[in-house]
Amino acid sequence: MTGAVVPDGAAAQALSAVQHENNVMISKRKIMQKPLAVEAVNLDKHVSSNGNALVILSGLDLAIAAGERIAIVGSSGSGKSTLLGLLAGLDNPTQGKVLIQGQDIAPLDEDGRAALRARCMGFVFQSFQLLPTLTALENVMLPLQDAKSQAIAALERVGLAHRLSHYPRHLSGGEQQRVAIARAFAPRPAILFADEPTGNLDAATGENIIELLFALNAESGTTLVLVTHDLTLANRCGRVLSLQQGRIVELEGVA
Ligand SMILES: Nc1ncnc2c1ncn2[C@@H]1O[C@H](COP(=O)(O)OP(=O)(O)O)[C@@H](O)[C@H]1O
Ligand SMILES: [Mg+2]
Repeated sequence: MTGAVVPDGAAAQALSAVQHENNVMISKRKIMQKPLAVEAVNLDKHVSSNGNALVILSGLDLAIAAGERIAIVGSSGSGKSTLLGLLAGLDNPTQGKVLIQGQDIAPLDEDGRAALRARCMGFVFQSFQLLPTLTALENVMLPLQDAKSQAIAALERVGLAHRLSHYPRHLSGGEQQRVAIARAFAPRPAILFADEPTGNLDAATGENIIELLFALNAESGTTLVLVTHDLTLANRCGRVLSLQQGRIVELEGVA
């Protein structure tokens, strides 16, 4: 008889390594031959909470090709917002690195990151982050270097043509969310990160926003990275990634 007999422990270890490799291969096969828009390598994020170390992300790897539509799902507190902030260079990892369009962002200072974001990223915060002293129109004009007509067109596309001169405090949560979305997509970024973009919207408005985001993806090749609780939205993305125990698990056969 030929073939080596592998002891149980080593066999289990080998099997686990093979499964890991398989997962990596599945991800790579899907995105092969396209340039990467976003990559995270062995990302850790630890914070200190009441004197205790809290591990939010641990050994997280992620690769997103240009033009992909990605949904990131996971239970509340699983680290989705933390991950999105790290990918956009708004926060620093404890360890590991993030590459945007192949560029390692670690050596960039605040100004360098802001310039990179202005050049190729849009970000919709879960908490909107509108500037309270600016109107809806002025908020959307911020990243556009005063291109008023472009800002108005963006607000029209989210159904807020009648709210241009409203301040955030005079807008409902859903309206503020739509201003935040308009601000993020108006400059036509190559990569759009959105944290629960339909979280405050009714079903019909949410559907319009999803169609708008998908149209950007189809027309301009915008890479969409959407954190969502909405399984209908997740299922309409090209890939669904689940954040579990600080790592990404690719959900197969969901899309
Ligand atoms: N700066 C911080 N200090 C302490 N705990 C934090 C900090 N940032 C996030 N957390 C905690 O880390 C976990 C992940 O947060 P978050 O990324 O907001 O999760 P999600 O977006 O998936 O709900 C949560 O339990 C949150 O309370
Ligand atoms: Mg969150």
